[in-house]
Amino acid sequence: MNTAVTFFSRTGNTKKIAQAIAEAACCTAQDIAAFDVQDTVDLLFIGGAIYGGALEPSLAEFIARLNPEKIGRAAVFSTSASKTRYGVAVNLIRNALKDRGIPTADDSFCCRGKFLFMGRKHPNDADLGDAKQFAVSMTGRYSQ
Ligand SMILES: Cc1cc2nc3c(=O)[nH]c(=O)nc-3n(C[C@H](O)[C@H](O)[C@H](O)COP(=O)(O)O)c2cc1C
Repeated sequence: MNTAVTFFSRTGNTKKIAQAIAEAACCTAQDIAAFDVQDTVDLLFIGGAIYGGALEPSLAEFIARLNPEKIGRAAVFSTSASKTRYGVAVNLIRNALKDRGIPTADDSFCCRGKFLFMGRKHPNDADLGDAKQFAVSMTGRYSQ
């Protein structure tokens, strides 16, 4: 079975989480610009964040280009400067995937990411450990 990890990250927080997920899922984290949308994937992890109140446009475009016949299921992850905003990017990514006809895992992952004076030192080792657990849980459920 085939698992891939893709992400968009402006300042590196989501990239760190993507790399932890990829390590646990025994694959390589790929920036969305490097991922071939014609690849067939049983489980695709997709990560992103909020900038200026919205999802990164290139991530929305990437999801619109995914082929629903080639993706078994997507698992969404994100980083957020504020705990109160944890669900924002996750929900936008999930909704874009649903619009594209790609089933999503019920569970998702989000942790804090540093932004200006907020969330300093995040993602930290505990966040990376939690992300790895999320990856193990998702691959156990959807990729076997
Ligand atoms: C230019 C910029 C704009 C941001 N705008 C928002 C925002 O409108 N709302 C919000 O909750 N977080 C905002 N953030 C915080 C990011 O969502 C957060 O730091 C996230 O972890 C960034 O992920 P990244 O390091 O993978 O790019 C912004 C961050 C940056 C760098």
